Amino acid sequence: MSSVAMRIGTSNPFAGLEEIVTENVPLAPKTWYRIGGPARWFVEPRSLEELQEAARRCTDNELPIFVLGLGANLLVSDGGVNGAVFKLSEEFWRRVKFDGNVVEVGAGADVQKLILRTVRQGLAGIECLAGIPGTIGGGIRMNCGGKFGDLGARVTRVQVMDSTGTTFDRLKDDLVFEYRSTNISAPFILSATLELEEEDPEKIMKRTKEIWMYKRNSQPLNTKNAGCIFKNPRGLSAGALIDQAGLKGMRVGGAEVSTKHANFIIAHPGCHADDVLKLVKIIREKVWEKNEIHLESEVKIWA
Ligand code: EPU
Repeated sequence: MSSVAMRIGTSNPFAGLEEIVTENVPLAPKTWYRIGGPARWFVEPRSLEELQEAARRCTDNELPIFVLGLGANLLVSDGGVNGAVFKLSEEFWRRVKFDGNVVEVGAGADVQKLILRTVRQGLAGIECLAGIPGTIGGGIRMNCGGKFGDLGARVTRVQVMDSTGTTFDRLKDDLVFEYRSTNISAPFILSATLELEEEDPEKIMKRTKEIWMYKRNSQPLNTKNAGCIFKNPRGLSAGALIDQAGLKGMRVGGAEVSTKHANFIIAHPGCHADDVLKLVKIIREKVWEKNEIHLESEVKIWA
């Protein structure tokens, strides 16, 4: 090994950034599942400049980059993540600015809090996301949504950043939002502009409550879960397929297929990420045996 390689290999890649970078940080408390291992490096930049500097250090040191939102659609493996996990939760990343029916919002803003603010302002369009936990950045990456609509439908601009720290604006014409996916490949989503529609706040609030009630009645909300585990195959419901395969209530270790909605895997106390992964594998095999349909995971898995 050359002396340069030795220096890189043994020294702290984030030297000088100690105020925003911590080592070996448990990720479980930062996810809805509350399971999984630590992040080798955990980065909480307070400004664009700090984010750019930390991202460049990752590139220079060939460290894999992960971006954490609210950890609501995420399963971290028991071994954790050997790379840098970024969280854009400082004030700068949570900014929200209204200009008529247009709202500019930082990637770290909480979708549920934003819904409440837009409803109060008499702006409709994102109430379809009621009850879907996450940040705007995570929501755009996944094109979060459900049967009442998705976030992508309201997005007119997304500011992104590559791993060298260069920022770009992606505009509506070149953005594609599909079922739980987008054509954004840059590792960092920084902010977004949403175009909403003026409407009576009471009417929007009524719709918001109805959407929330639908979720509450059909999903196991008071449990530790990561939302739907699998994407719906075109024209079908993954939940119904798993249900018809007789898998509701099936358990591996502390992981259980919800008896309320079969596309949810609940983590009971003592559950390991590996229990969830084993159950995912069994569900896939059983649904394939019965229907010859491959279930694709919706939840992000960090290994
Ligand atoms: N069904 C069953 N058994 C079950 C679950 C569902 O028979 O165990 C049936 C239902 O009775 C219904 C159909 O399957 O006829 C569809 O179920 P549901 O209305 O609950 O919707 P879904 O397609 O399972 C989708 C999203 C949810 C979102 C809801 C409501 C996916 C994979 N899921 O669920 O999103 O909350 O619509 O908008 O797209 C998520 O993204 O994490 C998520 C939970």
